Amino acid sequence: MTETLDTATAPAAARRPDRQAAYRSRRTFAIISHPDAGKTTLTEKLLLASGAIRMAGHVRARGEQRRTRSDWMEIEQKRGISVTSSVMTFERDGLTFNLLDTPGHADFSEDTYRTLTAVDSAIMVIDVAKGIESQTLKLFEVCRLRDIPIITFVNKVDREGRDPLELLDEIASTLALDVAPVLWPLGMGVDFKGCIDLAAHRLIGSNGAPGRPISADIDALSRDTELMADPNAARSVEELQLAAAALPRFDIDAYRAGHMTPILFGSALKGIGVAELLRAVAEWAPPPAPQPAKPEPVAPGDPDVTGFVFKVQANMDRNHRDRVAFVRLCSGIFARGMKLRNVRAGRDLAISNPMFFFAQDRETVDEAVAGDVIGIPNHGTLSVGDTLTSGREVRFTGIPNFAPEIIRRVRLSDAIKAKQLSKALGDLAEEGVTQVFRPMIGADWIVGVVGPLQLDVLGTRIEAEYGVPVGFEPIGYDTARWVASADPAELKRFIALNRANMGEDRYGDPVFFAASAWALQRAEKNAPAIRFLATREMG
Ligand code: G4P
Repeated sequence: MTETLDTATAPAAARRPDRQAAYRSRRTFAIISHPDAGKTTLTEKLLLASGAIRMAGHVRARGEQRRTRSDWMEIEQKRGISVTSSVMTFERDGLTFNLLDTPGHADFSEDTYRTLTAVDSAIMVIDVAKGIESQTLKLFEVCRLRDIPIITFVNKVDREGRDPLELLDEIASTLALDVAPVLWPLGMGVDFKGCIDLAAHRLIGSNGAPGRPISADIDALSRDTELMADPNAARSVEELQLAAAALPRFDIDAYRAGHMTPILFGSALKGIGVAELLRAVAEWAPPPAPQPAKPEPVAPGDPDVTGFVFKVQANMDRNHRDRVAFVRLCSGIFARGMKLRNVRAGRDLAISNPMFFFAQDRETVDEAVAGDVIGIPNHGTLSVGDTLTSGREVRFTGIPNFAPEIIRRVRLSDAIKAKQLSKALGDLAEEGVTQVFRPMIGADWIVGVVGPLQLDVLGTRIEAEYGVPVGFEPIGYDTARWVASADPAELKRFIALNRANMGEDRYGDPVFFAASAWALQRAEKNAPAIRFLATREMG
C-alpha cells in the first residue's frame, strides 16, 4: 500500500545534469465533481495544507453565488481573478503540484473536458449524502476515455450521509472500478469521531489532526479497546472489516492504470482528510506520461520542447484584446525567450513573457518542464488545440470540440457592424466560447454551443466587448455533425445533395445540421459511406 516518492526535490532536480528528469516531480491534476459537492472548498483547503495561501476564502466565489448568471458575468468582468485561478501551482516536499481548475457549471463542460486533456490525474469529489451525481459521471467518463487515474474524496462526513459500504458499492458498480478505502470514517455527522488512516496506520482525530498509531492488521482493530469503547466507532470498524474482506487492497499499479480508485472519506470544510489527500496525490498520482500525438506519442523526457493549448482566456485589459493561452508542456525544458512553432499556423512565436501560476499571483517563468502549465499572452495567434514545438513536427491529438446541442443564427440589427461581428465571433471561437459556422447557402453566421448559459455569455460579451448588439434565432436545427469519408467523391456527393443543411466550421471543414436526432439517423442510414462525427479534434 505504500510507495516512495517518485523523485528527488525539484530544486535538486534542477541542479542535476539531467534536468530533463525534473518532470518526475510534477503532479498535474484536476478536481472533478458535481456542483456543490465541495470542489471550491477542497481547493482552498489543499492550498492551505500546502502552505500556498494563508487564509481560506481566497479561491473564488462559491456555490450558488458563482453560478447565477449575473454573478457569473460579474466574476468574468473581473477576469483577472479567474485567469489566476485557472491554474494553481504550489510546491511541497520537493514536488510541484499543478492544480488545473475546471468550471463547475454544466454549460461549460466543454471547457472542462479540454482541461482534462491537460492533466495526469484527477480527484473526484463526491457528496457523502448524494453519492455519484450526473456531472460526476460525465466527467468520470472523460477521465476513463483517457485512462486518467482517479483518487476519490467522499466529502462532508461532518454531516449525516449515506452508509460508507453502500457508497463504496455504488462507486464500484456505477463506475465499474475497483474501490479501495484508505481513509475510513468513524461515525458521521454529530457522531463523527475521526478516521482510520489505512495507509499510515493511525487514527485521525475528529478535528482532522493525526492521532495515535494503530495496528496495520484490520482484523486486530476489534481488540483495540480504546477504539471499540465508542459504539459508533465500533460499528464503523466492523463495517471496515466487512469492506476489507470483500475488497482488494490498494494497488498503485491498478490505480495508475485507471482500474482502481483509492477512497478517502473526509470533510473539506473542517479540513478532515485534506492532508491525507495531498499525501495521496504526492505519493500515488503519476508524474507526466507520454502524451498522445501524431505521428507518435511524445515522451516527457524528450529534449524538444512541446506543448498544446488547452484553454484560451481573455485577459483583463479588454481594450487591447489580449488573451492568455494556457499551454500544457509535454516535453523538454522550456526557457523564457524561447521560440516555439505553432504547428497549425506554421508560424514561429517568441515567448518572451510567459506566466506561471503560483496560487494567487502570476509570476514570470524562467524555466518549466513537462507537466507544467505556462500562460502565454497573445493577441489571438493561439487557439485551443494548437500544438507548439521547438523542433520535431508533432501534433497533439485528443483535444475535443463537441457537436453543439444549441444551434442559432446570429441576428445583427446594425448591418454596418458586420465586420466587427465577424471579428468578435472569430475571437470568441478561438477562445472556445462558441463554435461558429458559415452556412453553404446564405450569408448569416451560425453559432453552436453546448448549453444555454453559454449562449447568454456569448451575446453579452459580443455586445460589451465589441459594441455589437446581436440576437440569436432558432433555425430549426438541434444537432450537428462533422462529416467525413474515406472516399472524397462520396463526401462531395453528400455535400451537394444536402447543401441546404450544410455549413463549414472555422477551419473550413464540412458540418451537417439536422433538425432532430431522427433526421440525423435517417441521414446516416442513407449515406453509409459518410462518417458523422460528434467530436472534432482541434488544431
Ligand atoms: P462546489 O465548488 O463543488 O460547487 O462546492 P463548494 O465548495 O462551493 O461547496 C458547496 C457547499 O457545500 C458550500 O455551502 C460549502 O460550504 C459546503 N461544503 C463544502 N464542503 C463541506 C464539508 O466538508 N462539510 C459541510 N458540512 N459542508 C461543506 P454553501 O452553503 O453553498 O456556501 P457557504 O455559505 O458555506 O459559502
